[in-house]
Amino acid sequence: ATEWSFVQHLTNTLSAASLVSYMSRLLLTPCFSTGRENACEKTSYVFLRKELAVRGANTMKEINLLPSDLRIQPSIKLVHSWYIQNSTETSESPHTIFLWNSFLDTLVKIRNRHNEVVPTMAQGVIEYKQKFGFDPFISSNVQYFLDRFYTNRISFRMLINQHTLLFGDDRTTSHPKHIGGIDPTCNVPEVVKDAYETAKMLCEQYYMIAPELNIEEYNSKAPLKAIQVVNVPSHLFHMLFELFKNSMRATVELHENSSAGLPPVKVMVTLGKEDLSIKISDRGGGVPLRKIDKLFSYMYSTAPTPSLEPGNGTQAPPLAGFGYGLPISRLYARYFQGDLNLYSMEGVGTDAVIYLKALSSESFERLPVFNKSAWRHYQTGPEADDWSNPSRDPRDAAKYKIK
Ligand SMILES: Nc1ncnc2c1ncn2[C@@H]1O[C@H](COP(=O)(O)OP(=O)(O)OP(=O)(O)O)[C@@H](O)[C@H]1O
Ligand SMILES: [Mg+2]
Repeated sequence: ATEWSFVQHLTNTLSAASLVSYMSRLLLTPCFSTGRENACEKTSYVFLRKELAVRGANTMKEINLLPSDLRIQPSIKLVHSWYIQNSTETSESPHTIFLWNSFLDTLVKIRNRHNEVVPTMAQGVIEYKQKFGFDPFISSNVQYFLDRFYTNRISFRMLINQHTLLFGDDRTTSHPKHIGGIDPTCNVPEVVKDAYETAKMLCEQYYMIAPELNIEEYNSKAPLKAIQVVNVPSHLFHMLFELFKNSMRATVELHENSSAGLPPVKVMVTLGKEDLSIKISDRGGGVPLRKIDKLFSYMYSTAPTPSLEPGNGTQAPPLAGFGYGLPISRLYARYFQGDLNLYSMEGVGTDAVIYLKALSSESFERLPVFNKSAWRHYQTGPEADDWSNPSRDPRDAAKYKIK
C-alpha cells in the first residue's frame, strides 16, 4: 500500500510532459561534456531519481488499465513486479553525496532486471492469444499499450545508460568523443556500413550468401562533406540492423536460385535542413499494401509460438522471430521525433525509410503521457468501420495470418 501511495503521489504531482527533455538538457549543459564533476553528477542524480520514478509510475498505472484477462497472464505479472521493485529501490536510494555509488549500483541492477522485458511481454501476449484467441479490441489495446510501454522502456534505458556512461564504471569503456550514449558527430553512412556488415554475417551464416550493399549520400547542406548529426548510434544501429535483416532475407529467399545472382540492397542517405533520411531499398518481392500496417502489429506477428515455460524470467524466450523488428525500430525512430515507414511495390521490392531530425535542437524525447485521454483509450474499443467494406477480407480475424 505504501508503494502505491508513493506512486500515486508522484503521478499526481508530476507530469512527464512538463519535464524538459533530457537529451536537449544534456546537450545544452556544458558540464556534461567535461566528464565527472560532482555538481553535474548531482544534477544527473537528482534528475534521474525523479524521472525514473515518474516514468516507472506511469507505466505501472497503464499496466493496471489493461484488460484483466491480459493483465493476469504470468509473464505480464512478472514484468509488473519488476517495475514495483524498481520504484522501491529508486525511492530508497540515498540522498547524500557519499552514497552516489550505491545509486549507480541500483541503476545497473534495474537495467539488468529489465533486460528481458521485451520478450517477456511478448510472451505474455502469446499466453493471452493461446487462451483466448485473437480479438480486435484486445489487439488495439495491446498495440496502444506496447507502443507506449516500449517507448517508456527505451527512454528508461537511455537515462540509465547516460548516467552510468558518464559517471559509472562504464565511463572507461565509452567512446572519448561521445557524451554518454550520444555521438555529437555521428557519421551516419559509417553506422549504415556497420549495421550492414553485422546483418551480412548473420545472413551468410544462415543462407551461405548475402546481397551486396550500394550506398549513396546526398548532403544538401554541404555537398562535399560527410553526413553527420548528433545522434544515439546504438539506436540508429538497431533500426538499420533490423531493416537490413529483413531486406536480406526477402532478397535471398526470392533470388536464391536465380542465375543473375542477388540484386544488391541499395541505401540512400540524405541530409536536408530539417530531415536526415535513410532509404533502404531491396528487390525482395515486396509486401502487398493491405499487409503493411499489420507488419507493425504486435498481435499479428508471423512468428511461431515459442515453446517456453510461461513467466520464466530466468530463461527468456528469444526475441528474434517475435516479429518485433519493425514495430520496435519505429519506436526508436519516433523516440527522437523521427519516423520509420515502409513503402512496398508488391512483386518487386520494398523501400524502408528512416527519418531522423537533422538538428539536435529538434531531437527532444517523444514520451507517452499518462492522462485522461490515455485512460479513455483503454475503455473504448475500436470504432465500427464507417467506410464500406467488401467482405473479401476474412471475417474471422483469428484465422487471418500474414504469410
Ligand atoms: N523488406 C521486406 N521485404 C519483404 N517482406 C518484409 C520486408 N520487411 C519486412 N517484411 C515482412 O514483414 C514481417 C515483419 O517484419 P519484422 O522485422 O517486424 O519481423 P520478423 O522479421 O518476422 O521477425 P524479427 O525481426 O523479430 O526477427 C516479416 O516477417 C516479413 O514477412
Ligand atoms: Mg525482422
